[in-house]
Amino acid sequence: MLLSKFVRLLMAVLQIVGVVIAGIVGCLWLAMLWAGQLHRPKRAPPGSFGLPIIGETHQFVIDGRSKSPQVYADKRKAKYGQPVYTTHHMGYPTVMSIDPEVNKFILQNEGKYFVSNYPRSLRNLFGEGAIACTSGDLHKRIHNVVLSFINTTKLKEFVMADVEYVIKTALRNWEGRTVHVEEECKTCKENCVNVMKKIIEERRRKPQSEQKDILDALLADSDQNGEKIPDSIIYNNIMNLFGAGEETSPMAMMCAVKYIYECPKALDQLREEHYAIRKMKASRESLTWNDYTNCMTFTHQVINETLRLVNPAAGVNRKAVKDVEFKGYFFPKGWLVFPYFRNVHLDEAVYPDPLTFNPWRWEKKIPSMYYTPFGGGPRICAGQELAKLEIAIFLHYLVTQFTWIHHDDEIINFPAVSFKNKLPITVKALQR
Ligand code: HEM
Repeated sequence: MLLSKFVRLLMAVLQIVGVVIAGIVGCLWLAMLWAGQLHRPKRAPPGSFGLPIIGETHQFVIDGRSKSPQVYADKRKAKYGQPVYTTHHMGYPTVMSIDPEVNKFILQNEGKYFVSNYPRSLRNLFGEGAIACTSGDLHKRIHNVVLSFINTTKLKEFVMADVEYVIKTALRNWEGRTVHVEEECKTCKENCVNVMKKIIEERRRKPQSEQKDILDALLADSDQNGEKIPDSIIYNNIMNLFGAGEETSPMAMMCAVKYIYECPKALDQLREEHYAIRKMKASRESLTWNDYTNCMTFTHQVINETLRLVNPAAGVNRKAVKDVEFKGYFFPKGWLVFPYFRNVHLDEAVYPDPLTFNPWRWEKKIPSMYYTPFGGGPRICAGQELAKLEIAIFLHYLVTQFTWIHHDDEIINFPAVSFKNKLPITVKALQR
């Protein structure tokens, strides 16, 4: 009896010791794997790979969701004494840069030294040949078609009236209600996707005689051998365009609503600018391209300042396709490269009192490499002109037709910009 108890106790102890030893061996194995697999070339910038497997991803997420998401990069710049350093994100060794000159070099050398690098899950979601994850000739073709369509002339002719109609209709429902701006923006989004599906079906049945929109332009495009872009790739790209614009522009609009509410002087000046435009029109007359380009100076300053502070795209993902050196910084082949714009947009030397919403700072010219909310180089945002136009038209109808009161809320910056309580505001029609 005593002997069997002793044997059972011994077995239990041996089991525990076994588990502990297996745990230690496992950890050692992981650590060795980590050290061996992530052998860091001597020339790589200083920095840390953080914890095995997760690296510093968790810290990036924690700081990203805090009220000061810029601290992640600030701390590392202070620790390593330079704005370009090694970290480890999403399972990969990464060189992160908050140096504007280095960021410009990375963006300009897309396809030569660096390529866009989305995780496999996102690539699957976007689908084959979608602009955001395709590269080489097909990328150039699609990017050029989209850019040449969303150029100012086409915007002037077709897009402005459509954008104005959608915004006017959406705002009409706001009157006298407490609206959650974030939700309202998403419901607009869903309507657009349904409309798009219908248009694609219709256009397939009955091709257009003249190119009115991006779909026509993509359907008509052919390479030097006369090869058309396959239908499946066209569909993926149209959906990709929706995806690229569906979060970013509405988020920027929402944040503009918050910033101008919190800065009454800016709201007054914005109202004045838009009243002046309305004064020259009959009551329901539409905005014109001339109004947008020549009569909205302060509106453009408000948009710039909003995007500077909010950063709908705080940085972009790249991968080094070969060993590269620039400005003394080394980017090892195969590593992720992460040009990060948020901290550049908060550089005190360029933007005094950087955390304050101050649209008047845009009265002076700011060097372009210090302001890249739309990225740069061959992958520069294909929808930037459209995004700015949408925000301007939205602000026009908002400030000329309504006053509003904010309820408590705060911005969350990660993974995408959003509001903790979906930004509730109570809207009242303006009596004029
Ligand atoms: C405030 C709003 C927006 C911001 C801040 C923004 C920002 C960006 C950024 C930073 C990139 C570069 C990505 C990279 O380099 O990897 C990008 C790419 C892109 N954006 Fe936007 N975007 C906005 C609105 C829009 C809209 C409204 C559309 C279209 C309807 C759009 C379509 C695209 C497309 C198609 C690309 C991929 C370009 C390429 O890879 O060649 N964006 N955007």
